[in-house]
Amino acid sequence: MLIIKELYVSIGEKKVINGINLKISPGEIHVIMGPNGSGKSTLASVIAGKKECKVTGGSIYFLNKNLMNLSPEERSHLGIFLSFQNPIEIRGMPIINFIKTSINAIRKAKGMDHMLAKDILTKAKNKSSFLNLEKDFIYRSLNDGFSGGEKKRIEIFQMMMLNPLFSILDEVDSGLDIDAIRIVAKVIDHLKKNMNSTLIITHYNRLLDSIDSDYIMHILYNGKIVKSGNKKLAKKLEKEGYDWIKKIN
Ligand SMILES: Nc1ncnc2c1ncn2[C@@H]1O[C@H](COP(=O)(O)OP(=O)(O)OP(=O)(O)O)[C@@H](O)[C@H]1O
Ligand SMILES: [Mg+2]
Repeated sequence: MLIIKELYVSIGEKKVINGINLKISPGEIHVIMGPNGSGKSTLASVIAGKKECKVTGGSIYFLNKNLMNLSPEERSHLGIFLSFQNPIEIRGMPIINFIKTSINAIRKAKGMDHMLAKDILTKAKNKSSFLNLEKDFIYRSLNDGFSGGEKKRIEIFQMMMLNPLFSILDEVDSGLDIDAIRIVAKVIDHLKKNMNSTLIITHYNRLLDSIDSDYIMHILYNGKIVKSGNKKLAKKLEKEGYDWIKKIN
């Protein structure tokens, strides 16, 4: 589904990603952990198409399409979803309008008919009650005046509404309460069952412990994947921190 080869990325003068290779197949969950500033959010941004990230080498293919030739919108139409570490606030746009526009833009790109407003509303009500979000939140402006945890829940709500082929969750677990973390884990397990893929960026084991499925774990250090493994590697990091990684690099 996603194939990253020998990727190098700079932001301004700074070389942030220094030769990443990563292959994510349908139905796989990948986890990236790494010290602050190691390049995790930059990797997420470059996949989503943020323009500050300058690709200086290598390639990213999604569904056999070269992402470098596609705008952020075109990438989202292909089924890529990025949940931000710090969700942006857009005033004056009710959440439901934003969702409607996004859903129908994706359907249009796939050559499908518009989804009817009433069907979107029914789906929105189901998903929001699953996420314990207030009934009327969809009429409020996107991310305007919501609490930190609510903003994260809204990101998950958007993900559930769009049902993306590939989701990148950048520190979605920081700021979420324990119940919400379990719900997000359920959503990730559910996406996997449908052969959708998820890339989780996190600093902690809490969300990972709530996920039933297997996952592939990578450690990012100085813009490079320096080790890959399974659940055991996440446990080792939690116990020992990053010192041993620094020593062997
Ligand atoms: N717009 C920018 N201008 C200058 N440097 C930047 C910019 N964006 C990111 N960087 C630098 O790139 C490096 C990687 O940042 P990134 O946000 O990818 O780290 P991260 O691994 O997500 O860290 P964290 O765990 O703290 O979220 C950092 O040293 C950061 O200061
Ligand atoms: Mg980050």
